[in-house]
Amino acid sequence: MEFDFNINQLIRNVISVFDRTLQPHHNVGDNTSKQNLEVVIDAMGKASAKAQGLGGAITTAYKMRYSDHRLYIMKESHSNSGRGSVVGILKVGRKVLFVLDHHSNQVEMKPMCILDFYVHESCQRRGYGKQLFQHMLNAESIEPQHFAIDRPSKKFTSFLMKHYRLRATIPQVNNFVIFEGFFKNQPDSS
Ligand code: ACO
Repeated sequence: MEFDFNINQLIRNVISVFDRTLQPHHNVGDNTSKQNLEVVIDAMGKASAKAQGLGGAITTAYKMRYSDHRLYIMKESHSNSGRGSVVGILKVGRKVLFVLDHHSNQVEMKPMCILDFYVHESCQRRGYGKQLFQHMLNAESIEPQHFAIDRPSKKFTSFLMKHYRLRATIPQVNNFVIFEGFFKNQPDSS
């Protein structure tokens, strides 16, 4: 997605992570940069919701400010006459969930969750999603099967099967989906 400001000046790395401070990497303290970062987050969140057929955005700058979630943003440096464009977003964070185990017991847990994942339509099926997801796995030091996933779309379900051989297991009563191996060696959620 292209913007009328310079993405390369706003976001330093090909994949950058932001928390509730929404601190741009360049021009720290510069209000225009902060506002531009919020524009990027809101636009990508809106596009993600549209792609998933949701009524409202899961990811907004405002929601980021009031959560402990982390938002990974991927850019493409050379596009838009060298000003860069935004390729995708991936939001992760812990949530308190009641998860059904293999014996149909409800277990209260606070696992890491994939909350929002979107690659711009012009870039889908070109390996960007895998690059972004793998970067997040390395940065968070968590195995893919240990995540709970909020309403995975068909495309995301296919993505997880293709790249990580993940199959859904134990139907849950909430919108979250867990995968084979979810409970084994689940990292401490404290
Ligand atoms: N139809 C079916 N499967 C698809 C499609 C599609 N249109 N697009 C991607 N995939 C899956 C397939 O397994 C595909 O492999 P294939 O081309 O060999 O069939 C694989 O993803 C491609 O991998 P990448 O190129 O690395 O993935 P991509 O860059 O396309 O990103 C993503 C995957 C994020 C799911 C992207 O397709 C997207 O943004 N889709 C729309 C929004 C969406 O559904 N997001 C997930 C919502 S659920 C949540 O966020 C918790």
